Amino acid sequence: MIKIRKHLPKDIPCRVKWLNNPDVNKFIGDEIGKKTNLKKEKEWFADYQKDKSKKFFTICDNSKPIGFIGLSSISKINKNADLFIVIGEDDYRCKGIGKIAMEWIIDYGFKKLKLHKINLGVIKDNIPAVKLYQSLGFVIEGEMKDEVFYKEKFYDFLSMAIFNKK
Ligand SMILES: CC(C)(COP(=O)(O)OP(=O)(O)OC[C@H]1O[C@@H](n2cnc3c(N)ncnc32)[C@H](O)[C@@H]1OP(=O)(O)O)[C@@H](O)C(=O)NCCC(=O)NCCS
Repeated sequence: MIKIRKHLPKDIPCRVKWLNNPDVNKFIGDEIGKKTNLKKEKEWFADYQKDKSKKFFTICDNSKPIGFIGLSSISKINKNADLFIVIGEDDYRCKGIGKIAMEWIIDYGFKKLKLHKINLGVIKDNIPAVKLYQSLGFVIEGEMKDEVFYKEKFYDFLSMAIFNKK
């Protein structure tokens, strides 16, 4: 059973493993393919704990952590935030878990945080992610050509958003 709980310091080693997974990090970050380590993730977590504009959660299969999802740049003034998701364990991708976690965080963002808009950025070639976002109601707001360079190739980047219609 899929459960979503608070992101905790005990998840730091999992963050390192997931963010260094080549099937994950080929699609994420400002500079894709970039490696992380325990020191960097401990620093990230220490900053995160002080930062009121970020809310992250761990996605679990019962008690086993399999990924994380979160909102950053939460603006109470503009009523928006940026969404980020990683299913870090290879055996758990493309099984509908991303969809469950996304529906959960959209509900959290709109109902609990009372956001008007949730933004995300995605590499256009990340087909499962783009399909998932579109199936949930995200629309493409912009397309940046050749925005990301990875392994001798440029990739286009999509800016997507979903609006709270209520
Ligand atoms: C992107 C990601 C979060 C999606 O989560 P997921 O659990 O794998 O996705 P789901 O199983 O919920 O399926 C998503 C959609 O993509 C489709 N899909 C899944 N695998 C696919 C594939 N290989 N090719 C095409 N479509 C695919 C599914 O059919 C589903 O569409 P539907 O709801 O219309 O049926 C997850 O794959 C992941 O973490 N990837 C690596 C990191 C990443 O890319 N993060 C997002 C950065 S923007």
